Amino acid sequence: MGRLAIKAENVSKKYQIRQGLGGLQTSFKAILNAPFNWLMRQNGRYTHFHPSETIWALRNISFDVEHGESIGIIGRNGAGKSTLLKIISRITRPSKGKITLYQRVNSLLEIGTGFNPDLSGRENIYLNGSFLGMKLSEIKQKFDEIVTFSEIEKFIDTPVKYYSSGMYMRLAFSIAVHLTPEILILDEVLAVGDAGFQRKSQEKMGELLSSGATIILVSHNNNTIRNLCERTIWLDNGAIKMDGTSDIVVDQYSKFIREEN
Ligand SMILES: Nc1ncnc2c1ncn2[C@@H]1O[C@H](COP(=O)(O)OP(=O)(O)O)[C@@H](O)[C@H]1O
Ligand SMILES: [Mg+2]
Repeated sequence: MGRLAIKAENVSKKYQIRQGLGGLQTSFKAILNAPFNWLMRQNGRYTHFHPSETIWALRNISFDVEHGESIGIIGRNGAGKSTLLKIISRITRPSKGKITLYQRVNSLLEIGTGFNPDLSGRENIYLNGSFLGMKLSEIKQKFDEIVTFSEIEKFIDTPVKYYSSGMYMRLAFSIAVHLTPEILILDEVLAVGDAGFQRKSQEKMGELLSSGATIILVSHNNNTIRNLCERTIWLDNGAIKMDGTSDIVVDQYSKFIREEN
């Protein structure tokens, strides 16, 4: 047994589906996801949804992650992957259960969420670093590497609101992987950027892993999961369907998806 990095104990997350258009969209997602709601739809009764409908995005999730492990999270849309990452990142709280962190987490859940649009790339690097609890000297030391990796040297003093989505993405990714993450959490962000940048990103992830970082990665790309993660957790309808060696879990998941279609 190695040292623990993350411990998740019976984590459940309940969402309240509200009235209004946003709530309605959520209801439709819930219809697609929950068999019970699906039955209601078959009866043509989905218009009778009570406004305070609740859905369980996560159901009784437990797992341990050790220092230096790299774990893939897979599952269909709406399975609860992003919800789990948000709870680990402390962006949202579980409704039941708890997650204990033994290392510092750095997460990139949506591109640019940690950015202030009116600040320059340079200022945003410092801003993100301080959010992550880094010392000024640490950020300074990594600064050039971050800028070079992101390929935005020329625009480093331009407010990021003028960046293209690609520039935004590259800078956000570069910050996430360079600011000494002990636990790095990425939600479907490896699929963006051109082929060259993707290759560079995967290499960088490999380097992080060999330097002992703990990585949790949501991806719909089976090869990315197989290449970067030894272990994979398959979420289905908010619950853990399988947790084991990536090759085995990814195979089972692919088979499941094929049989379903
Ligand atoms: N803020 C929210 N309010 C209500 N429902 C939500 C919210 N966020 C996610 N959900 C619902 O929780 C379920 C899991 O969503 P999510 O974690 O985003 O899945 P995934 O990332 O696997 O696609 C879905 O049914 C989704 O509609
Ligand atoms: Mg998601």
